[in-house]
Amino acid sequence: MNAHVSALASDALAEPEAGAADFQVLLRKILARQATVAVVGMGYVGLPLSEAFAAAGFPVLGFDLDLQKLASLERGRSYMRHFSDARVAAMRDQGFVVTAQADQLSTADVVLICVPTPVTSHRTPDLSHVVEAAETLAHTLRPDQLVVLESTTFPGATTDVLKPILERGGLRAGRDFALAYSPEREDPGNHAFGAGSIPKIVGAESPAEQRVACALYDAITTTVPVRDTRTAEAVKLTENVFRFVNIALVNELKGAFEALDIDVWDVIAAARTKPFGFMPFFPGPGVGGHCIPVDPFYLTWSAKAQGASLRMVELAGEISEAMPEQVVRKAGAALAAAGRPSLIGAHVLVVGVAYKRNIDDVRETPARDIIEILRSRGALVAYHDPLVPEFTVGEVTLFSVDARREVLAGFDCAIVVTDHDDIDYEALARGVPLVVDTRNATAGLAADLAAKIVKA
Ligand SMILES: NC(=O)c1ccc[n+]([C@@H]2O[C@H](COP(=O)([O-])OP(=O)(O)OC[C@H]3O[C@@H](n4cnc5c(N)ncnc54)[C@H](O)[C@@H]3O)[C@@H](O)[C@H]2O)c1
Repeated sequence: MNAHVSALASDALAEPEAGAADFQVLLRKILARQATVAVVGMGYVGLPLSEAFAAAGFPVLGFDLDLQKLASLERGRSYMRHFSDARVAAMRDQGFVVTAQADQLSTADVVLICVPTPVTSHRTPDLSHVVEAAETLAHTLRPDQLVVLESTTFPGATTDVLKPILERGGLRAGRDFALAYSPEREDPGNHAFGAGSIPKIVGAESPAEQRVACALYDAITTTVPVRDTRTAEAVKLTENVFRFVNIALVNELKGAFEALDIDVWDVIAAARTKPFGFMPFFPGPGVGGHCIPVDPFYLTWSAKAQGASLRMVELAGEISEAMPEQVVRKAGAALAAAGRPSLIGAHVLVVGVAYKRNIDDVRETPARDIIEILRSRGALVAYHDPLVPEFTVGEVTLFSVDARREVLAGFDCAIVVTDHDDIDYEALARGVPLVVDTRNATAGLAADLAAKIVKA
């Protein structure tokens, strides 16, 4: 247990603050691991979080509107490639149950909200799922519950959006129920870090709410209490803006180094040997996923509303958005150099459409933009991704083609967009006349293949 928090928890049991709710009953239940934890949203975040609490000995209730997901969990089946059936089965053995019945949420002592927070087509925060979940909860909320928002959001969303909805029935946060914000930092598919090894940032509006929320997360990992919910919301956005800006920087360096005839991958490999002050980020075809391309806009929107600007973040956005076009331009130039002056009628294989290596998530993937641009230029596009059997681009659903030699022979060019481990890059480079590699996945292949490979 985190020493700081265990001290906080035992303080809370010893001497409650005068005049404020102390949530002693709830705290005792949490410390005894008898508090029922309901997780709203059984997605990339909610499912592993449920697993962590079930493994820590808490009764866990998974709530979602997606009946297919719930049916799958009831059968002991996972719907995420990186989360095995065996893990679901182990959770079921530990007593994990699922429901789509909102009234069941009143039986929980703790409710963790893990619903999506995308952006609208105008790049403004879309909190509709959080609002919907809050409205559901407002009907079932009862005194002495702890509600924690885990979804990524802008500073002020917990107090200004979630709290007023929860309070509609007359209960007050900090007095009748506890409210906190604790951003999820899960990195799906990253086997080095999971819910138990990633510290949890915890922000609340009163010491008692902070204590009870920290006591909860302290059961599964180390906790980092921060001043308030706004600070906790800002921490998450800062982490993702940091990645966003650095990925854009390295993509821009790639272009500059290319003009100077320097391989950016060689530079990063050497620079990262510095034991301090440098953290490697890698170029690619653009950013994807539910977080990195989305979260910075929560911050820019929120800063703009207060008259502050975030020019570096805006610029990083421009650089990132231009990457798919740059990849297609590179492919066009490479084909032209190989004697095919136009993309019209060119058979192009996009290799990897998931937004990052070894996962099956295609949300915000740059592969979609690359395929759309290629098609708009007249190319005939197919894709291969061992983890994504079908992929919808615009109105059209494509199906992954297999990468047998006879199939590869029909393409003029392959563009590596995602560098999954399960792809045989040697066979790919031998099978097609040209490989445009956005991920350095072909590094280390036999020297005789070098002439076929263009880094983009
Ligand atoms: N995926 C990641 O790697 C990651 C990492 C850190 C933080 N986050 C953040 O965590 C949050 C959740 O992301 P995710 O990737 O788990 O999303 P997801 O789409 O995988 O899962 C969300 C789940 O919530 C359910 N849902 C939506 N509205 C609901 C409602 N009103 N009531 C009940 N269930 C509802 C959906 O059916 C879905 O199963 C987002 O804010 C995201 O930014 C995601």
